[in-house]
Amino acid sequence: MPKIPQAPGFDSTLAVLREGFTFIANRCQQLETDVFQTRLMLQKTICLHGPEAAALFYDPARFVRTGAVPRRIQTTLMGQNAIQTLDNGAHQRRKRLFMDLMTPGRVTYLLEILAEEWELAAREWEHMPEVELFPAAQDVLCRAACAWVGMPLREDEVRLRARDFGRMVDAFGGVGARHSRGKRARRRAEAWVRAFVKDVRKGRASAEPNSPAEAFIWFENEDGLLSPQMTAVEIINLLRPIVAIATYITFGAKALAEHAPYRLLLQQDDSYAHLFAQEVRRDFPFGPFLGARVKEDFEWNGYRFPKGTLTLLDIYGTNHDPRLWQEPDTFWPERFENREPTPFDMLPQGGGDYLSGHRCAGEWITLSVIKQAVLFLARCLRYDVPPQDLSYDLTRMPTLPRSGFIMRNVRLLAPEREAPVAAAVSGCPFHG
Ligand code: HEM
Repeated sequence: MPKIPQAPGFDSTLAVLREGFTFIANRCQQLETDVFQTRLMLQKTICLHGPEAAALFYDPARFVRTGAVPRRIQTTLMGQNAIQTLDNGAHQRRKRLFMDLMTPGRVTYLLEILAEEWELAAREWEHMPEVELFPAAQDVLCRAACAWVGMPLREDEVRLRARDFGRMVDAFGGVGARHSRGKRARRRAEAWVRAFVKDVRKGRASAEPNSPAEAFIWFENEDGLLSPQMTAVEIINLLRPIVAIATYITFGAKALAEHAPYRLLLQQDDSYAHLFAQEVRRDFPFGPFLGARVKEDFEWNGYRFPKGTLTLLDIYGTNHDPRLWQEPDTFWPERFENREPTPFDMLPQGGGDYLSGHRCAGEWITLSVIKQAVLFLARCLRYDVPPQDLSYDLTRMPTLPRSGFIMRNVRLLAPEREAPVAAAVSGCPFHG
């Protein structure tokens, strides 16, 4: 039996830190393969790239998530023992809870809240000499996420909570101070949400009827209610990623600023926002790769995958694979005109199936929120973009345009003052 191609060197941990998002694709190109073996933190690791490998990675008979997420990621980004670490029935029960929230009606409700929040924020921006979009969008999204979830949020804590959600995400590729900041942010956020969960269960506070918070607080597992800590972790699994969409909005603003015709196209054609938002998710980096462990020994394309081996799937590299995407490093929304992504060729939020697999529960929310935000920027606002550094560093995980996107002389336009809702709601393949 042939051996899986081996990356040069004994251990690739430093190479991952040096090369960041492009590490797996670089090796695959050098070795002319979609699968190779290496060591990361001295641990034997198989790396996979491309749609065929993605279909393998998302086969629940071949891979499990138990034991795949390092502690340092659980204590910052995801929370310990969260849905991302579950398999089989336990995973599906928990996932159903998330997926039941992703109906077109609920997505529309989130966009309605956001429409108001964007307008209120823009009224303030009109009086500011300049606005950095990334943190400003985090605040807008944090207010809307908490209102949508049913998590009480005082005005004087918006900034702390928004930054804490940002710090959890920022910690995933960080070491030292960045990691510690993410850990502290998670502890603060968990304590805040946990206290609310306990108050509701003890009758000292009430959860808004039919809110996601209410659904999570009273969700019954096979052995009863989730603990207050576990409930807090999963409620944060709704709040944190909604706030994280600020990253895509900032990249979207960059693309809009760098290609003048997009503003006009977004003004004239509702459907263009869909192409634009898809291209934002494909082209701009967020997650680099995903991890799982081999469930039982198996063979694939003649290679042996031993039980328990850590396996990484290249999500950024697959989104930029020249075999799948013409001129993959060019921002070009029209590529989606006659093409929708398949479950395995575009993986910014994972791939495969929503219930039997770990594909992101918030994909339609993300797509809809990006669409609404870029329509708002293009149709409802005028602003100057002063000289600034909009480049981003592919060796930093996660990354962002360096300036955070600075706007000056912001003006909210009448009569189209409201952020579009109807034009932004994305059809949901799960709920139809
Ligand atoms: C910035 C936008 C987002 C990005 C880049 C993103 C990315 C991802 C990725 C890569 C995964 C892992 C897929 C896998 O393990 O196979 C994931 C899972 C998940 N995402 Fe998102 N996501 C985003 C927004 C959202 C939103 C808005 C929500 C909910 C409101 C959400 C909820 C979840 C949940 C609950 C999971 C775990 C699914 C599971 O383990 O079954 N995400 N996301």
